[in-house]
Amino acid sequence: MPVSAANALRPNDLEAYWMPFTANRAFKQSPRILASAKNMHYFTPDGRAILDGTAGLWCANAGHSRAPIVAAIQAQAAELDFAPPFQFGHPKAFALASRVAALAPADLDHVFFTNSGSEAVDTALKIALAYHNIRGQGARQRLIGRERGYHGVGFGGTAVGGMVANRKVFGNLLAGVDHLPSTYNRAEQAFTKGEPEWGAHLADELEKIVGLHDSSTIAAVIVEPMAGSTGVLPPPKGYLERLRAICDKHGILLIFDEVICGFGRLGHAFAAERYGVVPDMITFAKGVTSGAVPMGGVIVRKPIYDAFMKGPDHAVELFHGYTYSGHPLACAAGLATLDLYVEEDLFARAAKLEPVWADAVHSLKGLPNVLDIRNVGLTAAIDLAGKPDAPGKRGFEAMDHAFHAFDLLVRIAGDSLVLTPPLIVSEAQIGEIVEKTGKAIRAAA
Ligand SMILES: Cc1ncc(COP(=O)(O)O)c(C=O)c1O
Repeated sequence: MPVSAANALRPNDLEAYWMPFTANRAFKQSPRILASAKNMHYFTPDGRAILDGTAGLWCANAGHSRAPIVAAIQAQAAELDFAPPFQFGHPKAFALASRVAALAPADLDHVFFTNSGSEAVDTALKIALAYHNIRGQGARQRLIGRERGYHGVGFGGTAVGGMVANRKVFGNLLAGVDHLPSTYNRAEQAFTKGEPEWGAHLADELEKIVGLHDSSTIAAVIVEPMAGSTGVLPPPKGYLERLRAICDKHGILLIFDEVICGFGRLGHAFAAERYGVVPDMITFAKGVTSGAVPMGGVIVRKPIYDAFMKGPDHAVELFHGYTYSGHPLACAAGLATLDLYVEEDLFARAAKLEPVWADAVHSLKGLPNVLDIRNVGLTAAIDLAGKPDAPGKRGFEAMDHAFHAFDLLVRIAGDSLVLTPPLIVSEAQIGEIVEKTGKAIRAAA
């Protein structure tokens, strides 16, 4: 028997797959396997319907396996499977870039495609460094992130990120990185609906960093408008405006990492629109294809793009890119997804549901161990008190109970439960998500 056939006959084994950001040993003792999905639900191999409280991983904003997206991917695979993105192009990459740029505010007019949010972040950071360099300001190399920020797992994104577990075992990362303080303060903000009143002044910390290093050494500030992965931290009212003003004053580029916030999650195409603040670059991923094919990108303001469009016409302007930048399947999925967002008016739908969602999630106040509840757009986080000497265990148990006992997918960030359903969620399903989350919180008490 050929070796491959022998392998095919081996029983399914969970060991080979080293799962990302997962407690591998716990998972392999009690797996949570998702075999198929449709609209608001996942289905287990034994046919249980699991209500998706997290849009997969903040991705499936249009819901799962939507027919027009599936059809677009199938047709594209048959028509053009791959085209080299260096020196050649295919029509849908240009079409999608135009559509994404049209969704972005002001002169955010140019789109560089990547395959993930992490690549989008590292691309944006590199563009920022290169932009200053080609304008004769090569000393501007310092990058500023924020405590509790998440910008993916590349070396750049890890360095500007502010989640300690993601950083502490990976050495020195990038040199010359500083962090703004987190905008979260439980004593001042607990159980706020939407953006907290307290905290705009924390943007002024950027002035201190400028005072320490001088603006001539600082390339860019990167923040998530709403910090998602650390447990939904909406920006304090006025904070982003203040950050923009300080960046303008000192010639520092402002990057909004909208990998989570983009494509309707906060009730608008981008958080930049919700908050009326125009950054110099926006990173995106996830919702652009509703998660159906990996894709990410950076939207860049016109003066930045124009700064690169110099020199001989035949010369490459930016020595950066990925083999799969603007992959045909991703572009086809992206175009079909953006059509669905328009046809079903999903961004406005998210905005309309926000108050219903906010009331529903805040009804969990008073359950055992609930320390804070935050929400903005169609996102929410519920902080649970950790178990003494076992940080993260209560959150893990609540997530595990939600899946095994209550047929609900929730996400955890330490001891926080995070809810971010597809934007097609019905009001009845919001009620169901919250009811099941309450049961899981009680089960983990
Ligand atoms: C704000 C933000 N930036 C970057 C990333 C990284 O994206 P990816 O996992 O696609 O690399 C994420 C992922 O959750 C994110 O939330």
